[in-house]
Amino acid sequence: PARINSKGWDLTHQPTLDAIDKARAPLRDATYLAGPLTSSEPKYPRRRHESSSPVLNPAQPDDIVGQVTPATPDDVADALAGAAVWTADHSTRADVLRKAADALEADADTLFAILAREAGKTLPDAVAELREAVDFLRYYANEANAQRQGRGIWTCISPWNFPLAIFLGQISAALAAGNAVIAKPAEQTPLVAFRAVQILHDAGVPVSALQFLPGGGAIGAALTADARINGVAFTGSTATALKIRASMAQHCAPGTPLIAETGGLNAMIVDSTALPEHAVRDIVNGAFRSAGQRCSALRCLYVQSDIADKLLTMLKGAMEELSVGNPWHLSTDLGPVIDAAAHKTIADHISQAASDGRILHQINAPAQGHFIAPTMIRVQGIAEMTREIFGPVLHVATFAARDLDRVIADINATGYGLTFGLHTRIDDRVQTIVERIEAGNIYVNRDQIGAVVGSQPFGGEGLSGTGPKAGGPHYLPRFAAADPAQATG
Ligand code: SER
Repeated sequence: PARINSKGWDLTHQPTLDAIDKARAPLRDATYLAGPLTSSEPKYPRRRHESSSPVLNPAQPDDIVGQVTPATPDDVADALAGAAVWTADHSTRADVLRKAADALEADADTLFAILAREAGKTLPDAVAELREAVDFLRYYANEANAQRQGRGIWTCISPWNFPLAIFLGQISAALAAGNAVIAKPAEQTPLVAFRAVQILHDAGVPVSALQFLPGGGAIGAALTADARINGVAFTGSTATALKIRASMAQHCAPGTPLIAETGGLNAMIVDSTALPEHAVRDIVNGAFRSAGQRCSALRCLYVQSDIADKLLTMLKGAMEELSVGNPWHLSTDLGPVIDAAAHKTIADHISQAASDGRILHQINAPAQGHFIAPTMIRVQGIAEMTREIFGPVLHVATFAARDLDRVIADINATGYGLTFGLHTRIDDRVQTIVERIEAGNIYVNRDQIGAVVGSQPFGGEGLSGTGPKAGGPHYLPRFAAADPAQATG
């Protein structure tokens, strides 16, 4: 029977200490390879000696995890010329995706190792990510239950923060709907993506239906500026999504769909009736898990002033318990941020707050590697936060009960609308706040990260994305031609 969400994951798939130990030794020293994989030259590596560059471990930048050969403009031309929609019938496509899901599970140890070394994922995060990837494959396989016709060629551009789950979520939906895919992984994380593509090919996806072009912004730009592209799925920054939209308007046929999942300035409101221990656990998880590198992460906490002293004291205590370090260690709660550029942006933001005397609390982090110490910063309100800081930094404001309306208005006025959290034990308040907050995913009396495929479709509104939500029933139909007569290929 198909398992379509995390609840269906067999708990024996949690890596045991033994399995982790076994996996560590050889995998820590292994070097992985990635490069363009197009239908004209499906055998990788084609030019491994020409222009490969090292992929570095963010926790330990002298550890070379692998080599990537970035795609060239010729590869883009080859991929566009060689793309062919997957013509197998829908049940065959679904079976192949399910087979790939099984193969991903079987490859868990290696995938965990690459996720840890290339993306800095802690083991719990790596486990959750593989689960989500497998869930996406099985969910979209189950959704591929009608003879849909694809739109043609989809460009899928994915982020480094979920280099396996979001990468495969976009691709598997496009494939399940009967399209051809040209996939560009994030520049920082080509290795795990390449391995996933090999798994899909081995399971039976034709190379012409799934081509792989690792590279930077120039490759992404070329793949969103061509009349042969029939749709783009993008997850990343709002600024890049706006550029893609402009490029598609200029180069693609009118009506070519863009599915964008972008950033957020996510808030949580904790009122004076909240259960403090519960709220503190969810704040720490929302703000600091995955080193704050989730688009869903909590960025601005509003605490009702009556309980602020008590709650912030508890929060500081909880922060003291966090351990920042090598993602391999089971004791580690936060790994590194993704690279030197991310480190600098976040560190500069913290330094500015420090020079303004606004640091409420900060713990320690290792000096070597791209680690950021979890930090709590005082703000007057979300209005003064002009951009998303994609790291373990929590901004905290207090509010008086009479100001609740203004707080809600300020949260909506950011223009973003991804996640929102609320801790309260007043039933009526849940109803009134949830009705007024403009966000795609709203969570009450829990943390606001870790949406589950199938039961919690994920996606935002406003500056946070176009919808439809990933892992929900409206996602896959968006990849299909509304009218089969319009389908190409
Ligand atoms: N889907 C992820 C989550 O819910 C965010 O990227 O945390």
